[in-house]
Amino acid sequence: MAHQSDLISVDIEKYLKQHEKKSLLRFITCGSVDDGKSTVIGRLLYESKMLFEDQLAAIENDSKKWGTQGGDIDFALLVDGLAAEREQGITIDVAYRFFSTDKRKFIVADTPGHEQYTRNMITGASTADVAVVLIDARKGVLTQTRRHSYLVSLIGVRKVVLAINKMDLVDYSEKVFKQICEEYLDFAKQIGLNDVTPIPLSGLKGDNMLVASEKTPWYHGPTLMGFLETCEVDETRLQQEPFRLPVQWVNRPNLDFRGFCGVITAGMIKPGDKIRAQPSGRESKVARIVTANGDLPLAVAGQSVCITLEDEIDISRGDVISGSDSPAEVADQFEASLVWMHDEPMMPGRSFLMKIGTQTVTASITEPKYKVNVNTMEHLAAKKLDLNEIGVVNLALDRPIAFDPYTSNRDTGGFILINRLTNNTVGAGMLHFALRRSHNIHMQHVDVDKAARAAAKGQRPGVLWFTGLSGAGKSTIANLVEKKLQAMGRHTYLLDGDNIRHGLNKDLGFTEADRVENIRRVSEVARLMVDAGLIVLTAFISPFRSERAMARGLVGESEFIEIHVDTPLNVAEDRDVKGLYKKARRGEIANFTGISSPYEAPERPELRLDTTQMSAEQAADYVIARIRDLGMI
Ligand code: ADX
Repeated sequence: MAHQSDLISVDIEKYLKQHEKKSLLRFITCGSVDDGKSTVIGRLLYESKMLFEDQLAAIENDSKKWGTQGGDIDFALLVDGLAAEREQGITIDVAYRFFSTDKRKFIVADTPGHEQYTRNMITGASTADVAVVLIDARKGVLTQTRRHSYLVSLIGVRKVVLAINKMDLVDYSEKVFKQICEEYLDFAKQIGLNDVTPIPLSGLKGDNMLVASEKTPWYHGPTLMGFLETCEVDETRLQQEPFRLPVQWVNRPNLDFRGFCGVITAGMIKPGDKIRAQPSGRESKVARIVTANGDLPLAVAGQSVCITLEDEIDISRGDVISGSDSPAEVADQFEASLVWMHDEPMMPGRSFLMKIGTQTVTASITEPKYKVNVNTMEHLAAKKLDLNEIGVVNLALDRPIAFDPYTSNRDTGGFILINRLTNNTVGAGMLHFALRRSHNIHMQHVDVDKAARAAAKGQRPGVLWFTGLSGAGKSTIANLVEKKLQAMGRHTYLLDGDNIRHGLNKDLGFTEADRVENIRRVSEVARLMVDAGLIVLTAFISPFRSERAMARGLVGESEFIEIHVDTPLNVAEDRDVKGLYKKARRGEIANFTGISSPYEAPERPELRLDTTQMSAEQAADYVIARIRDLGMI
């Protein structure tokens, strides 16, 4: 640390001791693009002499090259580390900075203010004790300010500094300051933020940053640094919570040793304590807490440990080891708050990978119960969530997990959603509670299983998933393939779009959300039929990669054959077997695939049928030949 202290030269031992005992404060800064966040943090670092000289020299140079302060030092350059940001003049990633003063150590997550970077803000806030919400005194409370504050409260940061910046540009007006305070405090109360400290600032001029400013004689509160150095943080709070160890990996160097490793996210543990492995529910006692430097008599929240148990019980990565007196809950359906972070809106029914603690499961989201208007806190009816929108949804997982409500434990109650095709993080959320119905529905164990049913039919079950534009020839070819399979004595079933939409799915139309639901149901039915031992043929446009990937996941890679009936749009349109393309072109049918609704062609289908090169009969023969090669028949 480069902050200056006379003790360094006088009594280094004492200095180090002082340093060791200093408490740690984690805080985040949030605000809109031009609120001057980077300048504020930059000045905190600079004025507290926490910079090394070479770093200073670099900034002075940079300021000449890039700075927006006309040759003076531009403190924002200290913080805006990435070249791209400098060129655009905005901050685009979470930057964690470590610094310390004589009184305290700090970790600051500088999070971008640009609308689309809400995601980074959530990442930064999830471990913070304090949020510094920046406001441009000239602009007052903006929608962004409200959204960020609401996120701060959802994420569970309780202490807020309302940093009203750029006071120099409003003549240090007490009236302006008071007006903004009033408006913000009113809003803060509505969202449960009750611990707010407003401070009038100028990051640029340094007013009330480290020293009380003469320009604001009407202000008697703390300076920003003063507040950060002295505000109370309850460092032992997490240790008082029930014990949770999400298992990161199982360390099994030989048959005699099996250690469960991870970071303790809450509580404490010592040898002899009773634990429960979750979701399995098996119980045992802690034998040892092993570390590289020998066994520990006690370990607490925040420590990385490897524990061994007295009994051999089966625990794998993703499981949670809890104190058996107050274990986590186990469920597979939840209500949750969800912040949507992707350009493509959240589509109900679509399935995602969900990461919660060290577990990764498959989750599908229902239609939002409501979304929140961040300006008024009103609950609005919604069919989907757009970028940066916040709503409440139900989630259904493919298997039960151990969890805590987010308000009790940020680690076992907070999650992110990932698009399984692109690996992008598309949402972040907080679990509220388990839905009652998931407690009461158990999987029934059955004795006659898929293998038995398939054996009775003398075949290997599986799915032939035909996808392609309307009028591509899916139904025609699938129908021919089914006839050929029947002739060979196979047990089959053809699920066809037009037919299913007359029965099971007659409540669905052709919006994106309805198509997602259409394919979700069809996938579930196909899975049941495979389980019954059948060879299932499906003929649906199934325009989205995501749902086809979901169907594949449900049925199982080895039993799923994706067949792209690849008829170019102009060919399908020329044929126009059902006359629908003409109607669609006349605007009489909305959301028509290929015309006013997208078709995402398969990237790596098992089979591709080019119907401009072969007749339906030839295509069907080709399918039969290929599934023979693939070992299905
Ligand atoms: S999917 O997109 O949800 O997979 P599905 O295969 O069930 O669609 O149904 C497609 C059939 O519905 C088409 O072959 C066509 O006969 C009919 N149809 C009616 N409206 C539309 C539309 N807007 N887009 C595509 N097909 C439509």
